[in-house]
Amino acid sequence: MDRVSRVDSGVPHPARVYDAWLGGTDNFEADRVAAEAGLRAFPATVKSVRANRAFLARAVEYLVAEAGIQQFLDVGTGLPSANNTHEVAQAIVPESRVAYVDNDPIVLAHAEDLLRGTDSGLTGYIDADLREPGKILEAAARTLDFRRPVAVMLIGVLHFIGDEAEPYRVVERLMGAVPLGSYLVISHTAKDIFPEEMAAFARAMNENSAAKVTLRERAQVSGFFGGLELVEPGVVQVSRWRPRSEVEASAPAVLWGGVGRKA
Ligand SMILES: C[S@@+](CC[C@H](N)C(=O)[O-])C[C@H]1O[C@@H](n2cnc3c(N)ncnc32)[C@H](O)[C@@H]1O
Repeated sequence: MDRVSRVDSGVPHPARVYDAWLGGTDNFEADRVAAEAGLRAFPATVKSVRANRAFLARAVEYLVAEAGIQQFLDVGTGLPSANNTHEVAQAIVPESRVAYVDNDPIVLAHAEDLLRGTDSGLTGYIDADLREPGKILEAAARTLDFRRPVAVMLIGVLHFIGDEAEPYRVVERLMGAVPLGSYLVISHTAKDIFPEEMAAFARAMNENSAAKVTLRERAQVSGFFGGLELVEPGVVQVSRWRPRSEVEASAPAVLWGGVGRKA
């Protein structure tokens, strides 16, 4: 199916609902209705989403500036926003490479914006589903050198992978393909932060959405880092992961986040 006929404007899609919360314009009425329903269930949703974006930027900054990482496999890219992975990485090391992956045709339609990297850096886009790690790895090899460390970024996407699709095996497969010294970065919507509001939030999101949300507890999110060395401060609310200010630290984020190293 071509990308235009894959776009269903009548059903909320995660990338477009997220875009609506971030104040973007790439969303339809159905997405805005879903975004509003999410806000009714958890009124601090926009602050939480912004805290997630800030976590993404801090994690990439840490990886490039402190850990020496120059390659990123960013699955669940989302629509272009401020501080996309390649912008943060290439601002520090212009040669940084990013392979973006998303399964949403609207994100694909915006891929050209994302692919405008620096002259020396390289960005690629892969139209694929996280449930197909083999396809992702094969296509990513066109942008990334898998003999050198890679940061696998799963920011705000694993909660769209239900238990039946074996998300732990998917993560293991991706991390099995990258060399020692590589990293895994995850943020995941929480079941055990504001639990009542979040149960209502998940119900609202799952009502008609194209992709169902599975909330997970901190221990379950920590489980994705099995076999990796967690970078300090471990798996925490995303706003508490190396915040740059008290304001960042105190954001009401409803996602667990962490960074692990394959050692
Ligand atoms: C909540 S947005 C997160 C965007 C960005 N990573 C961030 O944190 O700001 C989730 C993104 O994951 C994508 N997504 C959801 N399920 C996916 C799947 N099974 N495979 C690939 N991408 C998926 C959606 O299309 C959307 O763009």
